[in-house]
Amino acid sequence: MNVSPFVESPTYVVRKMLQLAEPKPDEILYDMGSGDGRILIMAAKEFQLRCIGIEIRQDLFKRSMDEVKRLNLESRINIINKDFFNVNISDADIVTLYLNASANEKLRPKLEKELRTGTRVISHDYEIRGWKPTKIVKNNPTGHKIYSYVFDPSKIFVSLGSKISHPEIGHRLPEIF
Ligand SMILES: C[S@@+](CC[C@H](N)C(=O)[O-])C[C@H]1O[C@@H](n2cnc3c(N)ncnc32)[C@H](O)[C@@H]1O
Repeated sequence: MNVSPFVESPTYVVRKMLQLAEPKPDEILYDMGSGDGRILIMAAKEFQLRCIGIEIRQDLFKRSMDEVKRLNLESRINIINKDFFNVNISDADIVTLYLNASANEKLRPKLEKELRTGTRVISHDYEIRGWKPTKIVKNNPTGHKIYSYVFDPSKIFVSLGSKISHPEIGHRLPEIF
């Protein structure tokens, strides 16, 4: 099920997302809906991560794989042309998202089932309702936001009646980048 149209994260947002994840070389990053592969490529080139992209659209899968081959990054980047709901991501150290609020909501049970405690989840523009971010940053003047989470099953807010899932952070101003 395609849950989000293709829109690229700007390069400066990608770099900030990766910095917020505090990556260590050779950690495993998954980009859920990897588009043209830009997050994977920067993560491999600048942060020495091992990257897996999951992309449902065949044209984007082909385009991103061509770029990975052109850059000789095949040993670091693997892209899977599948629906991410059907791919196990339990070995992730870092998960990146640029979807939308309802897609994040659909994905949340999968993340909670498969991720290990301590996995960093970094979401461009859209929060994961029911999770408490460790950090929210906002770009000036573009307004792009990044929500950074460290997955901890004991800190999940189970009652999701309210749309404001983390009120104690909601009224704090995000850090500007
Ligand atoms: C907003 S784009 C983000 C692209 C890239 N991650 C970035 O930040 O530049 C979302 C991507 O998710 C893909 N997508 C949507 N639903 C998907 C699904 N169920 N499985 C895999 N990819 C999906 C879309 O085709 C699109 O390329």
